[in-house]
Amino acid sequence: MVEFAPSILSADFSNLKEEVARVKEANYLHLDVMDGMFVPNITIGPGIIKSIRKHTDLKFDTHLMIEEPERYIKDFAEAGSDIITVHCEATKHLHRLIYQIKDQGCLAGVALNPATSLTRIEHVLKDLDLVLIMSVNPGFGGQKLIPETLNKIKTIKQKIRELNLSIKVEIDGGINNSNVKDVSRTGVDIIVAGSAIFGQPDPGKALSELKERVISS
Ligand code: DX5
Ligand code: ZN
Repeated sequence: MVEFAPSILSADFSNLKEEVARVKEANYLHLDVMDGMFVPNITIGPGIIKSIRKHTDLKFDTHLMIEEPERYIKDFAEAGSDIITVHCEATKHLHRLIYQIKDQGCLAGVALNPATSLTRIEHVLKDLDLVLIMSVNPGFGGQKLIPETLNKIKTIKQKIRELNLSIKVEIDGGINNSNVKDVSRTGVDIIVAGSAIFGQPDPGKALSELKERVISS
């Protein structure tokens, strides 16, 4: 059964406590951290994540779009992250970084930009809890999904099956009511959606509509 991780990037930042309560039927809360260097945008840090942590029981899926994330793993773990996902393009020492995340008691994820080949994570695959396939170039919500990235999901799912590993595969960017069915058919485990949930007048309803479309596929 596919799981959903609403991204608060499209939420009302002045009202995060209420916004988060609207998606309590989700499986995770996806937290997009951007530093204005790895991506052109700047968003939230550990302080905001720590404040939201008090108001929800959802698992925190923290997506770090920052350069040299090794500098901040402890901060994001202590803020209440359950999963910490780093970009393989943002670090020189990926294997070390994964174990830094695990040493903090969090699940470790690695994200790949649309232009990044799956070969970049082959050497760490067995160490991972999650692979995040970016279906847009990271930095902003509300972009259009790049359809070619769906093949990467199928390929990595196949590889994980062959190696008999228990790694979840997540997709992030441009998922909406019109394409969620096709996206779920790739076999992906977790779907991130920002504008398709928090960009809608009723985020809770938008989430259940996305779920229904997947179920009826
Ligand atoms: C983009 C972020 C996404 C973003 C997705 O860089 O990583 O998580 O919030 O937003 P939508 O679903 O609107 O494309
Ligand atoms: Zn994200």
